[in-house]
Amino acid sequence: MASSLNLFLFFLAILISTSYAQNGLNLPIRKDATTLQYYTTIEMGSTRATVNAVIDLGAQFFWFDCDNYSSSSYVPIPCDSQKCELAKGIGCVGCNMPPRPGCTNNTCGASAYNPFQRVLVSQGFEEDTLYSKDHVKVPQFPYACMNTRFSEGLASGTSGILGLARTEISLHKQVANKFNLPDKFSLCLPSSGLGKLYVGGGSSSKSDVLKSLISTPLIVNPVSTAPAYTVGDPSDEYFINVQSIRVNGQPLSVKSSYFTIDKNGVGGTKISTINNFTALHSSIYKPFTRAFVKAASDMKIRSVDAVAPFRACFSSSTISTTVTGPSVPTIELVLPGNNVSWKIYGANSMFAVNKNVICLAFVDGGSSPRTSIVIGAYQFEDNLLEFDLVSSQLRFSSSLLVQNKTCSRL
Ligand SMILES: *[C@@H]1O[C@H](CO)[C@@H](O)[C@H](O)[C@H]1NC(C)=O
Ligand SMILES: *[C@@H]1O[C@H](CO)[C@@H](O)[C@H](O)[C@H]1NC(C)=O
Ligand SMILES: *[C@@H]1O[C@H](CO)[C@@H](O)[C@H](O)[C@H]1NC(C)=O
Ligand SMILES: *[C@@H]1O[C@H](CO)[C@@H](O)[C@H](O)[C@H]1NC(C)=O
Ligand SMILES: *[C@@H]1O[C@H](CO)[C@@H](O)[C@H](O)[C@H]1NC(C)=O
Repeated sequence: MASSLNLFLFFLAILISTSYAQNGLNLPIRKDATTLQYYTTIEMGSTRATVNAVIDLGAQFFWFDCDNYSSSSYVPIPCDSQKCELAKGIGCVGCNMPPRPGCTNNTCGASAYNPFQRVLVSQGFEEDTLYSKDHVKVPQFPYACMNTRFSEGLASGTSGILGLARTEISLHKQVANKFNLPDKFSLCLPSSGLGKLYVGGGSSSKSDVLKSLISTPLIVNPVSTAPAYTVGDPSDEYFINVQSIRVNGQPLSVKSSYFTIDKNGVGGTKISTINNFTALHSSIYKPFTRAFVKAASDMKIRSVDAVAPFRACFSSSTISTTVTGPSVPTIELVLPGNNVSWKIYGANSMFAVNKNVICLAFVDGGSSPRTSIVIGAYQFEDNLLEFDLVSSQLRFSSSLLVQNKTCSRL
């Protein structure tokens, strides 16, 4: 009797473990408060090794530190194969050590990039099964191995980067292609608790938040912004057409050319989960902070000495608190269409550097950045974002706090 029960449980376990991602993939997101990196947790390969991977909207594929990884189910992607072409592999790599993940011959070359070290490492593409914690699997998922040495800079406890750029081998595209699902994913970065990454359709939540999402086109930068690329490739990062910025309803006076992307791919606005705070071209940053400080002063908020990297800081005791965080001037990213904007309230615009000082959480991107506005992760914590690559639209909620919700309570 006992043994038949065990057998039953064994088969039940097998049944649970073999569910494919036909209904998409739900992954948790956690915030590392020290670095403001946001990461998810998956399992890889035959040993189902747990991998915490930092979410990177701008990265082209998944890589992780394989130094301690073993799996009997990994398969290298051969050079000159169709899969290698889809992965946009560059060259062919080999290895003189005993074969293991990250050490194979005749393997499609992967340029694995660690944005925190700004290093590009020549590796090979492989495939193995990826599992979510809730036992959903994605077979033959492409990835590259990295060495421990080049995995530094990632939040403590994490060992990889999960790329969500617009490539053939990113998680959302693989799930969409393998399970015949629409190529969409939604992202909700938590301020605390568990956020959500849902891949393979629009948001999985039934919340009425979904009804109030605002839509704006995702636009293509004609010149790649990746650390390694082939001449002629467009960017696979997510750009939106911010046309101006308003502070308490007043538009900044900034030359409109900073907001557009020129023929060399310079300018424009992209969304990044790797930048913790939004970086603005100096020619936008200066009038922006000036306008914010003026509007804050009009609200009787007292300025104090700035704390780097910020340039506009205030005495916390002169700022009241509302449901959307500190009561400060509202910032709007103005988007195409009639009266369309992405509103940023205190919870997303202000960062407390200590008990007494709170700063405008935007940084100076310098006088010649490649991209004029890089919207950083802190600015969209507790905002639900839906990337719809079928219709090339970004749908966003603005702050969920307005609706008395957060990413962990959606
Ligand atoms: C923001 O990112 C920078 C660059 O990675 C890092 O040095 C800094 O510690 C981060 N700031 C916070 C508050 O996490
Ligand atoms: C890999 O394993 C070695 C030996 O067990 C350990 O010292 C090292 O910290 C591990 N590295 C990682 C990245 O987990
Ligand atoms: C790669 O090929 C070389 C030369 O044939 C061989 O010595 C080496 O062991 C192979 N490496 C692997 C990982 O199979
Ligand atoms: C713009 O939209 C806001 C709500 O988001 C509304 O309060 C305001 O009246 C609108 N303005 C115009 C000119 O339509
Ligand atoms: C906001 O949500 C919390 C938790 O769901 C609830 O306890 C509280 O009553 C809500 N507040 C308002 C003003 O609706």
